[in-house]
Amino acid sequence: MDRDQLIKKALEARQRSYSPYSKFRVGAALLTEDGRIFTGCNIENAAYSPSICAERTAIFKAVSEGYTAIRAIVIVGDSDYTYPCGVCRQVIREFGKETIIIIANSEDDYREYKLKDLLPNSFGPEDLE
Ligand code: THU
Repeated sequence: MDRDQLIKKALEARQRSYSPYSKFRVGAALLTEDGRIFTGCNIENAAYSPSICAERTAIFKAVSEGYTAIRAIVIVGDSDYTYPCGVCRQVIREFGKETIIIIANSEDDYREYKLKDLLPNSFGPEDLE
């Protein structure tokens, strides 16, 4: 996995953040198991609740194009190490029990986790089998 490239893409995506209300910009870039990259930014709304996080934008773009297995996802926010919200952790779980989650400030300042570190004892598709 080219971590630097993925972090760069997430930083680029953050520039496209539509966040006039919170003014908190977030970008994400994910790598699918087949090597494709999808990016996303947070997109807010005047009615507030229709807003979506950067991670879910990227994931929904990938899934809607037919890519449902996520190997890694990078998140870059406006705080020092922006961690994914609980809803996004659960959405990542749906498409990758072993997904690597990289919380980055820059290409050479990041922390790397496994999904299970950030969402232990999770509920997922296998539970419904
Ligand atoms: N946000 C994300 O996009 N991802 C996160 O991991 C944390 C929060 C967005 C949602 C909202 O647009 C703004 O950041 C402030 O919460």
